[in-house]
Amino acid sequence: MCGIVGYVGDREAAQFLLEGLTKLEYRGYDSAGVAVFDGENIRVEKSVGRLAELKEKLGGNIPVGTMGIGHTRWATHGRPSDLNSHPHTDCAGDFVVVHNGIIENYLALKEELVKKGHKFLSETDTEVLPHLLEEVYDGDFEAAVREVLHRIEGSYSIVFMSRRDPGKLICSKQDNPLVIGLGKGENFIASDIPAIIAHTRRTYILSDGEMAVVTKVGVSIMNYAGVPIRKKVFEVNWNAEAAEKGGFEHFMLKEIHEQPKAVRATLSARIEKDESAVVLEELAWDKAFIDGVHRIFIVACGTAYHAGLVGKYYIENMARIPVECDIASEFRYRSPIIDDHTLTIVVSQSGETIDTLAALKEAKRLGSKTLAVTNVVGSSIAREADQVVYTWAGPEIAVASTKAYTTQLIVMLLLGLYMAQIRGSLPKERIVELVRGLKEIPTQISRTLEDVDPIKTFARQYGFNEHVFFIGRSLDYDVALEGSLKLKEISYIHAEAYAAGELKHGTLALIVDSLPVIAIATQKSVYEKTLSNIKEVKARDAVVIGIASVTDTELEKYADHVIKVPETDEMLIPLLAVVPLQLLAYYAAITRGCDVDKPRNLAKSVTVE
Ligand code: F6R
Repeated sequence: MCGIVGYVGDREAAQFLLEGLTKLEYRGYDSAGVAVFDGENIRVEKSVGRLAELKEKLGGNIPVGTMGIGHTRWATHGRPSDLNSHPHTDCAGDFVVVHNGIIENYLALKEELVKKGHKFLSETDTEVLPHLLEEVYDGDFEAAVREVLHRIEGSYSIVFMSRRDPGKLICSKQDNPLVIGLGKGENFIASDIPAIIAHTRRTYILSDGEMAVVTKVGVSIMNYAGVPIRKKVFEVNWNAEAAEKGGFEHFMLKEIHEQPKAVRATLSARIEKDESAVVLEELAWDKAFIDGVHRIFIVACGTAYHAGLVGKYYIENMARIPVECDIASEFRYRSPIIDDHTLTIVVSQSGETIDTLAALKEAKRLGSKTLAVTNVVGSSIAREADQVVYTWAGPEIAVASTKAYTTQLIVMLLLGLYMAQIRGSLPKERIVELVRGLKEIPTQISRTLEDVDPIKTFARQYGFNEHVFFIGRSLDYDVALEGSLKLKEISYIHAEAYAAGELKHGTLALIVDSLPVIAIATQKSVYEKTLSNIKEVKARDAVVIGIASVTDTELEKYADHVIKVPETDEMLIPLLAVVPLQLLAYYAAITRGCDVDKPRNLAKSVTVE
């Protein structure tokens, strides 16, 4: 979703701003803009469309100056347009502001400011910020920003710049991420680390309700009452290279290929040397804790929700604790039954998804114990939850989540095994079997990735179909849901996933001659039943692409094509079965000429409800 950058130092600010915004392009946006202070005036330049359009508009006439702010906007209040793009200014052009999130009381503030004579140019909620600043300013920039922060409601990360107080950027956040990068004789602000990682790995990660005054020589952090806060420097543990494509055509393809490494990192130090058990030192739960958990909620959005569905299966099967899996945007509005015997597990790659964060806060408010499974250290969700298990997948840049999903599945499996160990609900031999199987997964994913040619062929062959169905039972159904989301979000093909046994209750009416149906048939316990469902769609002349284990000899008798994945335990096979589906989505999007890493209308980190 929207991206923010800010710079103050001795270099030309515009250079960093444009480069930083390019690094945030993956977050999704529909307009962009920069504002640079030249020592006397602030020049604002903005444009609807991609950054390339802003750069084209600037031509050789790049704004000059050593302090500036920039923004990529993903439209919420007001359509994408030059006027609605950020930065926004006050009437006199003294103050400029970039903002991510939503100012919920903007209409009341706008009405008040209009009555006082302020002229608004855009339809955005953000524009109230510079006008309110102009209204309350009486010579003290910091005091005026504090006053603004006291008056606004909603979620935000904001950077304020003033020509009346040169050399100083002020920023703040509430429920939206913001980091400050610490340089030498220069400092940076960004909504996400990739924008600054080429310049520094030393950062401050702002917390809700904090305000930072950033100059080229220092950063002071305080609360809204102006009381100073001492903050620890957070050293980012990855480098600029990790946020580059590294020879791959797209981030998504790179991240698909990074899965063996990512899974190894997730497993690292979490398995006993003798492979007899799982270790989750960060949790250190005991029997009393687990016995006190009578019900678990897993709450997440999109792909993370799909990982949660697999997590439900794992935890119920291994630990025998009832689990409900919920979509975060539904969970908090349905009055969930929660008490202090509930454990709520939220799953989020970014750790910033606002629906998931809000669900987490609601679960906490109702007395639940909380655990976050996330990829981003220091993210809002990581900080809000009582406990955190990190997925350690490394930065995920492509909008379509791939390595985050597989590493979330690994954590779900580790959690299931860990709880089962404590409860004694799974025989020791079964734990050893699964742990040994897990250790093989990275190599098996690598092997799955080698067999890409048939997938490219299917993508070319079927990539122009407008509808595709995915079917499966049990864990295969959960994988089908993820495969179908991947396909629709990056190739724009209408894809639907159905529990195979549910087809004949309505959906079978849509199965027609030559319609591609991707049938996942890896689960031995329901294999025969899945085969019957495959026969049902074949009888309607659908084209069936099956996904099966390498030892399978049955499926090819009924399916038109079969993609095989290495043999493993049926609990673990989702980690392999999803890989060809990710590749199929990728190559279908390529066949259709789609912008794989930046699918239309989508954003990497969804920070509005
Ligand atoms: C799809 C995708 C999204 C995210 C969802 C939650 O490929 O990436 O569905 O999974 O927006 O995001 P996080 O995990 O950051 O909370």
